[in-house]
Parts: sequence; structure tokens; C-alpha cells
Amino acid sequence: MSMRTIYNGDLRLSDKGKTVTVCGWVSKKRNLGGLIFVDLRDRSGICQIVCRPEHEGYEALDAVRNEYVLKVTGVVNERESKNPNIPTGDVEIEASEVVVLSTANQPPMIIADETDALEDFRMKYRYLDLRRPVMQNNLIMRHKIVSSVRDFFNKNGFIEVETPVFGKSTPEGARDYLVPSRVHPGKFYALPQSPQLYKQLLMISGMDKYYQIARCFRDEDLRADRQMEFTQIDMEMSFVDEEDIYAVIEAMVKKVMKEVKGVDIKTPFIRIPFDECMERFGCDKPDMRFEMELINFTEIAKQTEFSVFLNAINAGGLVKGLNAKGAALKYSRKELDRLLDAIKKFKAKGLAWLKKENGVVSGSIAKFLSEENLKAITEKANFEDGDLILIVADNKNVVNQSLAYLRNTLGKELGLIDPNRYCYLWVNNWPSFEWSEEENRYVAAHHPFTDPKDEFKGKLLTEPEKCYSKCYDLVLNGYELASGSIRIHDQEVQKEMFDAIGLTEEEIKVKFGYFVDALKFGTPPHGGIALGLDRLTMLLCGASSIRDVIAFPKSANAICPMSEAPTEVSDFQLNELKLSIKK
Ligand code: AMO
Ligand code: AMP
Repeated sequence: MSMRTIYNGDLRLSDKGKTVTVCGWVSKKRNLGGLIFVDLRDRSGICQIVCRPEHEGYEALDAVRNEYVLKVTGVVNERESKNPNIPTGDVEIEASEVVVLSTANQPPMIIADETDALEDFRMKYRYLDLRRPVMQNNLIMRHKIVSSVRDFFNKNGFIEVETPVFGKSTPEGARDYLVPSRVHPGKFYALPQSPQLYKQLLMISGMDKYYQIARCFRDEDLRADRQMEFTQIDMEMSFVDEEDIYAVIEAMVKKVMKEVKGVDIKTPFIRIPFDECMERFGCDKPDMRFEMELINFTEIAKQTEFSVFLNAINAGGLVKGLNAKGAALKYSRKELDRLLDAIKKFKAKGLAWLKKENGVVSGSIAKFLSEENLKAITEKANFEDGDLILIVADNKNVVNQSLAYLRNTLGKELGLIDPNRYCYLWVNNWPSFEWSEEENRYVAAHHPFTDPKDEFKGKLLTEPEKCYSKCYDLVLNGYELASGSIRIHDQEVQKEMFDAIGLTEEEIKVKFGYFVDALKFGTPPHGGIALGLDRLTMLLCGASSIRDVIAFPKSANAICPMSEAPTEVSDFQLNELKLSIKK
């Protein structure tokens, strides 16, 4: 039996008169002329304890400090001065017995939703950081999401299967984490970047509907939405096409949003083909909570005599922009310089702007534009009084990246984004390949097991740039939440795909021999998808980084400030592994 009879946060006026026992940490203590008040915190919330000098336990309570662990027994009273800001604000416990279960050092940080500690410091004392209600709520939200997801899959005939962590490389475009084998010196296991190959093998095994809450490992630069280890909600189905995957995931998301956030999400989600998405938003994960779509000014720019535009177009580039409605006064020259500075990281060479105030057009390129040019721009962009038009001329990548950034930045700065909206979107019809400058060859845009659309089979080698795949991303509020595809189940097509990305027979055998063999033994058509659980939780919690929804994350430079992992290992361990460290 538990030491407590009730959780702190559950106390209500209906408990008035009851004798209860609560346990928790001292969040705050005040001594008001003989009357001691303590806020006692546990996972469920905070309740107020009050103790008078004549009560047993007064002395004990008088000696406690913040973060001491107490067991308090007493009667529940209605408070004289109520606190409407907390759910237990109508009541307090009049302590008759106080037991100090544990003392505590002075905590090195403020343990409350608003803390003074910087993130690395919070990670060093993560167990204290996780006492903060906001962090506890994030972990509880994560738990609720996983429960809801498991319940959905279980009720819909999916089977949860665990796949190995020690294996051979399952590539998703990042570096592998390698683990040396002691039993086989000189050989290494690779930690999975995803369960991709295993789940396809499960389809070949006839397991049909599979899911897993899977830990994945990727050695890549860490960011606010990227960790070296993270969790996927991973699924795969046999005898399906794209529509089946959309339907299952939409139903799952709908259920999670209802159960966890109480929000009704409209399905089906909108779908935008990749090329159209890039044209309209400049990126493959647009935030659909606001409009401000990009405008292609290339044709109009050709009619101008402005050399910057003409040079960009002659070099095969384009001229695109956006109209920030009503923003003309908000952005001074200095502000516009700030925006230009920011897009220099995408290699933008300039930012052209136009403003209209009281019918008069001004701006950095006004003097280069004729009446005709301005008229065309006005029509195309619905350029009205108070508007600010921003334009970038360059190659396609620079233009799209810069404008996608500007769209998001202005969306935020102009207050166009409602934080309580959840705009899901499918981006589908992806190109099969992308050109890698680094490797000077085509690489698979998703992974090399993605089925090309039927009309492109047989053309992967000859016209790679024209091929599109049965591939889809799920986007939420500007984040890539999930990625998936229908897979190649025909060994001939798989061979063509490997050829197209320049893998030799030998490389195929070494890297994926077992998988290619398996394809020969009766492979059903199949497909699936994986959602980033950390990203979904971050977005539903309103957190700004996935680190805030992971119990023990790594810092941006891939260390754990608490345990100090990674650490050096002893010569004994290295010897056992037959490894030596290059100096
Ligand atoms: P992909 O590589 O797109 O696809 O990953 C799927 C989803 O996982 C999340 N994600 C990450 N989250 C946190 N940190 C990371 N480093 C990280 N990398 C990815 C994202 C992403 O959308 N096997 C395929 C899926 C499939 O085809 O079924 C895969 O792994 O939310
Ligand atoms: P310039 O004649 O070079 O002074 O350029 C005039 C205006 O064009 C300046 O406001 C620049 O910011 C803008 N500009 C220069 N290069 C570009 C570019 N690549 N795209 C958009 N605007 C540009």
C-alpha cells in the first residue's frame, strides 16, 4: 500500500473534512508569524499545507527547506483566501503530522515552469529539471500520445514487432553509429537509422500489418528538431497502395488529436505534389496556418531592364517574391537589411523590395521599373496600399530557400500564425532522385526501396531527373512529421534502382545482399510510413525543441552534460575489442 492516500493535485473542495496523507517535494515555504505554509509538489500538482505552532509536526515543518521530501497527514480545510490559478486552490491541508522522508541540498536552479537555468545546465541536473511541472507535463503528453497510437494500431489489426538494434546498416541518408564486436574483432554492428529493411522483411514474412515504437540512431548534426537517437512511430502494410496509407495515418492522427488535445481534425488532409509545393512555398514542409504564398515574377522580370533580374534569368535562374500584406510600415530600411542579412546564409545576393503608401510606390528597385512593369507586378501580386513586396532573383535553390525563410519569418513577425491551429498536409509525388553535388551523382531522394510511379519504371537509368515516386511526407505546421512510400517489391525494379544510383553488383551484394535475396522469395506489394514521435510531441506540447519532450536528451554538440557521455574507455576495454585510438 502506498504511503499516500491521495495525490496533491487531486485535492478538491469535495474532500473538505477528510483526513488525508500526501507525499511530495517542498516547492515553497513561508513562515508568517507562527503560521507555516508549504506548497507541496508531486507529479499531479501542488497543494498547500498549513501548520500552527500547537500542532505536532510544527517543528519538523519549521526546519524543512525547498526540495525536502515530506509525508504530511492532516485534515482538508476550505481556504480563507482562495487561489483560482491552481486546481487545488480552494483547499489546504492542516497538518497534524509531518515526516521528513528525505532532506535536500540547496537546488542549483529554480524548480518551476519559469527557470533561470540555461539548457546545458538543465541537462546536467536533468532530474531537477524534470521536476518542473512543464517538463512533467511534456513527458505525460508523450505517454498519452504513445498510448493512443498503440491503442489505434492494436484495434486496427496491426501487430507490434521489435526489430534489432544491433544489425547491419539500414541507411536513411545519415552516418551510421557503429558498435565494435568483441567476439569478432575488427567487425562492427551498425545501429539502425530506421527499421526500414526489417519491416520490409516482415512483409515478406507475411506479417502484413506491422507497427513499432522504434528507437532510431543517426549520426548527423543535431538541431532543435533532430537528435542522434529519436523515436519513430513506424508502420508497414502489405497489399496496399498510397490511398490505404493515407487513410490509416489520417485516422490515427485524428484519434490522437482528439484524445490528447481534444481537437477535432478534419480529414482527409490536403495533398500537394512536391513540385507545386516548391513553387508555391519554396520548401517541402510549408506552414499552412497562414497564406502569403510565393509569387513567380520571372515572366514580368524579363520585361524589365533591371540587370540583376535579367542576369539571374539568363543564368537559368528565376525571380520570385511574396507580398506581405499591410507590412509596409512595419519594415524600415534597417529591418529590411536584417532580413537580407538573414538570407545571406542561403547565398542570396540581394533582397529587392517595394512598398506602396498612399498610392505611391517606393523601394530599392522602384527606379528600375517602368509604369508597365509596375502595373504587371501590381496585378500579379495584388499590390495594394500598405503592402510590402520582397523579391529575390537567383538560381532556384537560393530563391526558394530564401523566400521560404522570409515567409516563415514574416508569418511569425506579423502575427499571422495561430499557435492553437494544427494544419496537416500531405506532400506527395516526389522526384525519385536528387543530384548530389558532393558525390557528383544521383542519389535516392527518399531511400532506394521507394517504388517509382509505374510510368517511370524502365526510365530510371536514362531519365533519372524526370522520374517520380510513390512517396509522401506528412507535414504539420512547418515541420516534416512523417515520411513514407510504397516500396519496390519487384526485384527487377530494385535492380534498376540500385543501378540508377550507381551501386555496382559487388556493392549491392555487400550492402543489401540478404535483402535482395529475400525479394526473390515471394514479396507482396507493400508500403508504409514512419512518424517522428519526438516532433509530434513537441508540436502538441507547444515546445520549441524536441529536447524538451525527451527525458534524457543530448545537447546540441551530442553530449550528455549529466553523465558526460561519450567518455573515453579503458585500455583494457580497447584491448578486448582489439581497437587502438589514432592520435
Ligand atoms: P525518415 O528518414 O524521413 O524516413 O524519418 C521519418 C521521420 O522520423 C523523424 N526523424 C527524426 N526525428 C528526430 N531526430 C532525427 N534525427 C530524425 N530523423 C528523422 C522525422 C521524419 O519525418 N524508414 C523511413 C520511413 C518509411 O519510409 O517508412 C524513414 O526513416 O519526423
Ligand atoms: P544594385 O543596383 O546592385 O544596387 O541593386 C538594386 C537593388 O536590387 C538593391 O536593393 C538590391 O538589394 C537588389 N538586389 C540585388 N541583387 C539582388 C538579387 N539577387 N535578388 C533580388 N534583389 C537584388
